[in-house]
Order: sequence, then C-alpha cells, then structure tokens
Amino acid sequence: MSSFEGKVAFITGGGRGMGREIALEFARQGGDVIISDIASDIEAIPYSLASKEDLDETKALVEAEGVRCIACVADVRDQQALDDAVAAGVEAFGRIDVLSANAGVYDWSSSRLWETSDAAWYAQIGVCLEGVWRSAKAVAPQMIKQGRGGSMVFTSSNVGVEGAPCSAPYVAAKHGVIGLMKTAALELGELGIRVNAVLPSTTDTKINDHPAGWRRASGKPDGTRDDYLEAVHQWSILPNTTALPPQATAKAIVWLASDSAEYITGVALPVDAGHLTLPGFNPWPIRD
Ligand SMILES: NC(=O)c1ccc[n+]([C@@H]2O[C@H](COP(=O)([O-])OP(=O)(O)OC[C@H]3O[C@@H](n4cnc5c(N)ncnc54)[C@H](O)[C@@H]3O)[C@@H](O)[C@H]2O)c1
Repeated sequence: MSSFEGKVAFITGGGRGMGREIALEFARQGGDVIISDIASDIEAIPYSLASKEDLDETKALVEAEGVRCIACVADVRDQQALDDAVAAGVEAFGRIDVLSANAGVYDWSSSRLWETSDAAWYAQIGVCLEGVWRSAKAVAPQMIKQGRGGSMVFTSSNVGVEGAPCSAPYVAAKHGVIGLMKTAALELGELGIRVNAVLPSTTDTKINDHPAGWRRASGKPDGTRDDYLEAVHQWSILPNTTALPPQATAKAIVWLASDSAEYITGVALPVDAGHLTLPGFNPWPIRD
C-alpha cells in the first residue's frame, strides 16, 4: 500500500460507520483528514444518524493515529456547507487530494414505489445522489487547481446495479451514482483526476442495525439482530461471511484512491464477498 503522507482526504458522512473507518484508514497511511457529517437526524429517515459527539469521536480517533483532522458539520444536500468545509480544509492543510463521497441514508421501512412518500424519495435521492454530486462539485475546483493526481471515490452499493423491492429511491440514487461517476471520470480524466465507485453489499453499520433493518433483512416480522446476521450469510459466496465489517469497504476506497490504482478510473468496484456473482432469486414467487 502506498503512503498518503503529505496528502489530504475529505470524507463525507465521517461521523460513524464506513465513513469513520475510511478516515482511520487514510490516517493510518499518514494522510491528514477532513471529515464532515450532518450530525443530526432527517425526519423522513426512520433511524438516528450520527451525532456531533460521534463526529468528535472520529476526529479524536483519527488524531490518535498521529495525523491532523478537522471536523465540520455539513449536510451534503447543502452546497454552501460543503464549500465551507472544503475551504476550511484547504485553509488548514493547503490541499485536498482525495474525496470519499460516502454519506448516505436508507429508509429500510419504505414501501412500494407507488406508496413511497415524497419526503422519503427526496431524502434518499437528496443525500445519496445529489449529495455525491454536490461533494464532487465542492472539491473539483481545488483538485483541478492542484493539477494531476487527485482521486474521487463515490459510494454506491450492490443495489447500484441490481433492484431491491420497496427501496425505489435508494436504488435509483445508487444507480445514479454510477452514472455520475462515469461522467465525472470522463470530465476529469483529461485533467489527471481519477473517479471510481465502490459497491458494498450489506455491511454491519447502523444503516442496517436497527429493528426495521433486522426485519427487512431476515424477512421475519419480529426479526432480531441474530436473524438479520443469519439471513445475510446467504448473500455472499465466501465462507462464514455475514454483514461485512465496515473496514472492508474502507480498505477498497483507500486502495482506489492510492497510487497503486493509478491507471484505474471509471470503475464500479463491488466489495461484496461475491454477492453480485450469485444467481438471482424471486422474493415473491408465484406458485399457482
Ligand atoms: N451498510 C451497508 O449495508 C451499505 C451497503 C451499501 C452501501 N452503503 C452505503 O455506504 C455509505 C455509508 O453508510 P454506512 O453503512 O456507514 O451507514 P451509517 O448510517 O453508519 O453512516 C452514514 C453516515 O452518513 C451520515 N449522513 C447521513 N445523511 C447525511 C447528510 N445529509 N449529510 C452528511 N452526512 C450524512 C450519517 O450521519 C452517518 O454518519 C452510505 O452511502 C450507504 O448508502 C451501505
């Protein structure tokens, strides 16, 4: 693995989960880190998002690795807040080499598309798709100013390339992220800036780890955390693999952003223990 010493990474959704692990991976390789997070809840999303305390905890953990970190409260749907976070990062560290557009929300309790509320639609499209565009928009001018060598990694999902019932806004957003990534790779490639996406499968973070998530993953009306973890075994082809650790995707993102991947751009990389190679199944088979 190449070192990120002298380089700076900006990670959205850094308060917890994969965002925290991405920040720590960059820090362990010597990179300074800017983290941002909404640090409050969104009304249409039926589980708690990271708090300001979570964001501060990530900052402390990153600094304990011996690098510098600044933490900003910024909603990825708010261009001014992102621009301010980028400006604060550049003022503190002088540059931004990597964007990890990681922030996301998933309304696990959402209904079929014809019953989906406007609020649920706009929250997920707003955070998961518009938020990636706004994050790239905030960072691109600084990377372009610096010249060749920048790298962006957008977080999509396995459902960026497959359907998932009762998840229309999330699935549409994650498909959109891949189109956005390919377009950004084309637009920024001639400037020597690479853009890729990661497609994680079910990962053991708070986006899933709540009663609605357990019920949904296990297909049981009273599903528990154990039921959820048991059900997810069926989603991978590797032994003893249930919900992935958040480090799995963090390591893939840091590798994609590193010089080891210097000729890789425009790629949608699954981090899924083989999930996407599985044959599909029908969640509602008709037997008569
Ligand atoms: N966990 C999974 O199974 C899984 C699978 C595929 C893709 N993903 C994607 O991975 C990314 C990270 O999710 P996670 O699993 O770590 O979940 P998580 O809920 O633990 O972390 C998401 C983070 O994003 C932050 N966030 C939410 N809305 C925001 C906003 N508007 N502005 C700024 N920050 C915001 C949250 O506060 C939280 O800190 C998301 O894009 C998610 O869609 C997750």
